[in-house]
Amino acid sequence: MENKFVLITGASSGMGEATSILLAKSGYKVFAGVRSEKAIRQLNNLRISNLHPIKLDVTNQQDIENAFVVISKKIGTDGLMAIVNNAGNNYSAPTEYFNEAAARNLVETHFWGMASISRAFIPLLRVYAKSNPNKARIINVGSVGSISAFPFIQFYNAAKFAILGFTESIRFELEPFGIKAIAILPGSVKTEIWKKTENSVNNTVSSLSEDALRSYEHNIIAASRVSSSLEGSGISSQKAALIFKKALESKKPKFKYFIGIDAKAINFMVKYLPDSFRHRIVRLQLKFKKVNGK
Ligand SMILES: NC(=O)c1ccc[n+]([C@@H]2O[C@H](COP(=O)([O-])OP(=O)(O)OC[C@H]3O[C@@H](n4cnc5c(N)ncnc54)[C@H](OP(=O)(O)O)[C@@H]3O)[C@@H](O)[C@H]2O)c1
Repeated sequence: MENKFVLITGASSGMGEATSILLAKSGYKVFAGVRSEKAIRQLNNLRISNLHPIKLDVTNQQDIENAFVVISKKIGTDGLMAIVNNAGNNYSAPTEYFNEAAARNLVETHFWGMASISRAFIPLLRVYAKSNPNKARIINVGSVGSISAFPFIQFYNAAKFAILGFTESIRFELEPFGIKAIAILPGSVKTEIWKKTENSVNNTVSSLSEDALRSYEHNIIAASRVSSSLEGSGISSQKAALIFKKALESKKPKFKYFIGIDAKAINFMVKYLPDSFRHRIVRLQLKFKKVNGK
């Protein structure tokens, strides 16, 4: 196999890790971006020869520059076949009471992280695309939450909607270089993000005043329960990784790849049914308590 180098962010767990392992075992040379020494050790302990963990916090410009130097050196004149912008986190709060640092960190990670990584590594994709036209890829991980929103994760939805718009724009911009930009939009996938989201809800609830709790506690917990219940019906990150591989290898890659029947069903509703229908289903699931007698 010729040298096919791929950079994946957020590779310490979930879909990033599963995709890194799948691609490395399939012969790709994978730079797996992670934030901690522990995560580097864990990936190294897998002893997969094509898997190269690399320190990469996508919100840290110095990390991006260091990773660029290491990767440029390793790939030489082959160039980089693909970037997978996968790193992500979650934060839940009522809009009246959101913590600005946490909300900004979420948008920094999902949106600005993706933008900064793209800016830094597009030159290496262009090198690959020169001798392999239309095979170079930027794969950005959005969510079904890029087309349909849910209460109390407004910053997650905002960042994910933005990722979809960004990806559509650069799809046109980068086509002349032979680089395809693709959005992957998962529904529920069983990963650690669910536990992290639950922790975020608990932290928010414990930080709220009594007055705020009276207004929001019931509804934010109701939303969290509905969202947690979705994890059970989610697919495994190994199964999701197969879609990433398909997006990487397809001769004519689509703009959007939905992962899971739930994501496809919501896409159908967004496309063909009135918003009010979808909103009604969400309201029925949530069973929100009326506040202030409204
Ligand atoms: N699971 C789902 O149902 C689902 C559905 C739709 C979309 N998604 C999206 O899929 C992507 C992967 O999530 P996942 O479900 O696989 O969850 P996950 O297991 O929690 O993975 C998230 C990864 O992102 C990393 N990360 C967080 N902040 C980072 C930063 N500043 N720089 C670099 N890496 C960072 C985490 O690293 P640490 O270990 O260092 O925190 C972790 O490796 C996310 O973009 C998520 O929004 C997931």
